[in-house]
Amino acid sequence: MKITVIGSGYVGLVTGTCLAEYGNDVVCLDVDANKIRILQEGGVPIFEPGLEEMIKRNVSAGRLRFTTDIKESVEHGTIQFIAVGTPPDEDGSADLKYVVAAARSIGRYMHGYKVIVDKSTVPVGTGDKVRAAISDELAQRGEQTSFAIVSNPEFLKEGAAIEDFMRPDRIVIGTDDDTAKDLMNSLYAPFVRNHDRILFMDVRSAEMTKYAANAMLATRISFMNELANLSEVMGADIELVRKGIGSDPRIGYHFLYPGVGYGGSCFPKDVQALQRTANEHGISLKVLDAVEKANQAQKSVLVDKIVKRFGNDLKGKHFALWGLAFKPNTDDMRDAPSRVIIEYLLSHGATVAAHDPVAIHEAQRVMPDWQGLSYADSPMAVLPDADALVIVTEWKAFRSPDFADVKTQLKNPLIFDGRNLYDPKKMEIAGFEYYPIGRQQVTR
Ligand code: NAI
Repeated sequence: MKITVIGSGYVGLVTGTCLAEYGNDVVCLDVDANKIRILQEGGVPIFEPGLEEMIKRNVSAGRLRFTTDIKESVEHGTIQFIAVGTPPDEDGSADLKYVVAAARSIGRYMHGYKVIVDKSTVPVGTGDKVRAAISDELAQRGEQTSFAIVSNPEFLKEGAAIEDFMRPDRIVIGTDDDTAKDLMNSLYAPFVRNHDRILFMDVRSAEMTKYAANAMLATRISFMNELANLSEVMGADIELVRKGIGSDPRIGYHFLYPGVGYGGSCFPKDVQALQRTANEHGISLKVLDAVEKANQAQKSVLVDKIVKRFGNDLKGKHFALWGLAFKPNTDDMRDAPSRVIIEYLLSHGATVAAHDPVAIHEAQRVMPDWQGLSYADSPMAVLPDADALVIVTEWKAFRSPDFADVKTQLKNPLIFDGRNLYDPKKMEIAGFEYYPIGRQQVTR
């Protein structure tokens, strides 16, 4: 099938590449000329495991190409995916200007029947706005052609995006157009072992499903974080509690890890956008309001421990920091908790030396010229002279360091662990002061 993907970011690039992998003829469009230049020259502008090889394979096979040419892109695909960003507006609602601009581009250049598939995360009712924008462009040209609107929200996780896209647990397709339904069914058939994994529904329910999923996951994280904070005070161990509740199939083990608060490009903005949508309709989502408040507070939980240990004046203190990306296996720094932690430390007079296996470049881009912040390309290289090590992202490479070496390098054998990577008892034996989340604190 001929496919166009508008927006070649984390979602668009993965979507286009995975669709090409199954033999479709895919054009990926972006307005960012630099991004397209990198892709055309054989590079990949983002870090996503497995993506580079898959892009190379499909480009050489002639099934995947990249362009900034809107007209050519729109003319190419019978199916047009919109995978542009939907960042938060000032009031927290989803800013739809990129989605509407993409829809207008389609309307401006399309001839003949097209299926317009919205993959971006958009509020309920956006399908109607996309339809109106396309119809308006068609009317201006006096062009009479039919088209279908489909909502096909994306559930991939950065860091496991290829695996998630190639082997999805479900594919949600919202449409009331039978031809579009058939086309989408054929397009996704190779990705699902049986068709039960494709869930057809109306456009509004599909749009709502994406927000409902992210709001539910954010709720789980915030609630776990609150249970962790309470466990810590009460002398219980959240890691044991996690196993104790996860074994109940109604709860399950996934997504029960306490930490430094959720971040990234989706949960914070999607939680806010859903609250905003509800408020606009006179409904208050009380649980979600609390989820967001709890998350804001959780972002400073590690900082609170640091202040409790060192006092509020951190002048002259130096911290080593492991993990910049909002989660492992990505270079995405959007709403990363590391940014809040670093900002606090620097603004209170400390200096920070940070390491991340892949996100240093992106960190330099989003935190340019932050005085007192330096980077090193290995975990051990940031340790010398540090008053403490602060762990923010649970990269595998941080799980089993040579603790004797860590102890020798640090000025003080002291670790603030926002991801519960180590066993407090072992840390005590190894001679560390150790401050995890929701577990026994090993103090001086
Ligand atoms: P991104 O910011 O990485 O990529 C968006 C791309 O769209 C950018 O490269 C931008 O230049 C391009 N763009 C903007 N306007 C355009 C236009 N008119 N024509 C062509 N290109 C245009 O964003 P990301 O992370 O890929 O997210 C896209 C959507 O998918 C968002 O709605 C997001 O909420 C949703 N989503 C993101 C997930 C993630 O893990 N990143 C997961 C699931 C959904």
